[in-house]
Amino acid sequence: MCGIVGYIGKQDAFPIIINGLKRLEYRGYDSAGVALLNGSLNIYKCKGKVNDLIQFTKGKKLEGTIGIGHTRWATHGPPNDINAHPHTGKSDKLAIIHNGIIENYAPLKEELIKRGHSFESDTDTEVLIHLIEEVMDKEQVSLEEAVRLALQGVVGAYAILVVGEDNPRKIVAARKSSPLVVGIGEGEFFIASDATPIIEHTRNVVYLNDEEIAVIDLENGLSIKNIQNQDKAPFVQELEWNLEMLEKGGYDHFMLKEIHEQPRSIRDSMRGRLNPAIGNVRLGGIKEYKQKLVNAKRIIIVACGTSWHSGLVGEYLFEDLARIPVEVEYASEFRYRNPIIDEDDVVIAISQSGETADTLAAINLAKSRGATVLGICNVVGSSIARVTHAGAYTHAGPEIGVASTKAFTAQLTILTLMALTAAESRGTLRRSRYMQLLNELENIPEQITAALKLEEQIKYIAQEFKDAPNFLYLGRGYNFPVALEGALKLKEISYIHAEGYPAAEMKHGPIALIDENMPVVVLATNKSAYEKIVSNIQEVKARKGRIIAITHDDDTEIKKLADHVIQIPIVAEPLTPIVSVIPLQLLSYHIALLRDCNVDQPRNLAKSVTVE
Ligand code: M6R
Repeated sequence: MCGIVGYIGKQDAFPIIINGLKRLEYRGYDSAGVALLNGSLNIYKCKGKVNDLIQFTKGKKLEGTIGIGHTRWATHGPPNDINAHPHTGKSDKLAIIHNGIIENYAPLKEELIKRGHSFESDTDTEVLIHLIEEVMDKEQVSLEEAVRLALQGVVGAYAILVVGEDNPRKIVAARKSSPLVVGIGEGEFFIASDATPIIEHTRNVVYLNDEEIAVIDLENGLSIKNIQNQDKAPFVQELEWNLEMLEKGGYDHFMLKEIHEQPRSIRDSMRGRLNPAIGNVRLGGIKEYKQKLVNAKRIIIVACGTSWHSGLVGEYLFEDLARIPVEVEYASEFRYRNPIIDEDDVVIAISQSGETADTLAAINLAKSRGATVLGICNVVGSSIARVTHAGAYTHAGPEIGVASTKAFTAQLTILTLMALTAAESRGTLRRSRYMQLLNELENIPEQITAALKLEEQIKYIAQEFKDAPNFLYLGRGYNFPVALEGALKLKEISYIHAEGYPAAEMKHGPIALIDENMPVVVLATNKSAYEKIVSNIQEVKARKGRIIAITHDDDTEIKKLADHVIQIPIVAEPLTPIVSVIPLQLLSYHIALLRDCNVDQPRNLAKSVTVE
């Protein structure tokens, strides 16, 4: 949430910052701003997207080789010009941009007001810059020392960049619970919330750790301290993503590109990890913790949103294949309900971004109670990847569309590999069944390619249902979490109200909603409950509901009942979600497109939810 970019070097900072903000716009897009240092401090900010900022700055003084920029997702105060970042202190000589929440901003503000400060905005961020400035003046210390001392009194999450007119060759950065990455070029540095604005300039990066303060100075380069004033040696890593991965590559939207990338992204998730020829699954990242997983008394999966839905599929996988009891928890609930966790529990945290604040907090809680925590993350070097004991990256490549698509199927792939490896060690699967699943998993990219070919049919269905005010999604067993995911995809990008339900639960309430205007998407690929699903469809039909059924290629019965049948390739039941979600992703995309919605940047949302 909120994107931060900074540049210090020899080039003009403004275009680099603007390009960087465009790459980070998926993190928040309600206002944007920049501060440029060129002798004096010039600040430009306005409500709206980065393109609005570009218009706003036309003809303005944009020179300067040092600058910071921000794209906001509002927390404190509505999206408007005044609440947009950067914010300044009393003297207007210092500027700050911030991602996160200063939880104790209210008492700090009250104290500052008593000491003669006045505030323009409703933000917590403005309080912080006043505090930094006050410390600097009172203690007569450097900018970085003032940042360090001020942050000692702050409760909450922050990634900040600070520049000052009296420090014309320096940017000070600090983080706690919100990400910051420093890119190291030739005599220049790039700082950002994630690596996407940095990749086009350099592949060498340093991820800041919690409570670290970095000073980036044109003479002395990068130096890092922690909030306790201990020096820290920067650890330089090489980025594995490339620029091409960040472009739309000929597609109209990132979401559509990411949907179509799934055969490739799933292959990448499995690369080097699956070898059906010798019946082997190898997850190098969790090697040292494999026995913990195999012997776990219980697995607890924590996640949010789409990642929580993959966690639900994970529950079916681990219980069905490896016979390990699983609980799946919303990270936000888990952390606040004093859960029972013990040392024999293995907690699996799932997160595309690796930065979701609630998931991070749930991990910290689980670790403090002695559990082993494994991560499934997409973003390499992200906070969750670093705080978990071990983990497996999904390697799906950057996911930029706010609606998660390829990250979901990549997470399912990793969960399947984990469950299979646990099942093999625990001896809970017949060898022939184990080998069948390995072989089918290896071929799943082809089945996805086949499912993607259904797009023309799905466009036609989208046209028919684009104006429906409500949708119901039903699924059983492995397909129940897919029903939830289909409903989430539709509501987040098309703003149509949608609910996902276990098909049999329909009669316990939602059936009251069904009439001739209600589209009901039924996931009907389960062999084990086929007859039951046919009955559920009959029940919808009897109330004149409009049925869109997702069935397997060999279906004969449902065809006769449904208004539309989308036939996907036959795969073993535990692997079904990886394929059955594809038509639902496409359906939500095409409905949103027909409704003229901003598919990649839906209203009120942000890609990475770094606030609680
Ligand atoms: O980065 P994470 O996987 O931790 O994000 C979790 C959710 O915020 C995310 O899945 C969200 O629900 C997506 N917008 C769904 O498409």
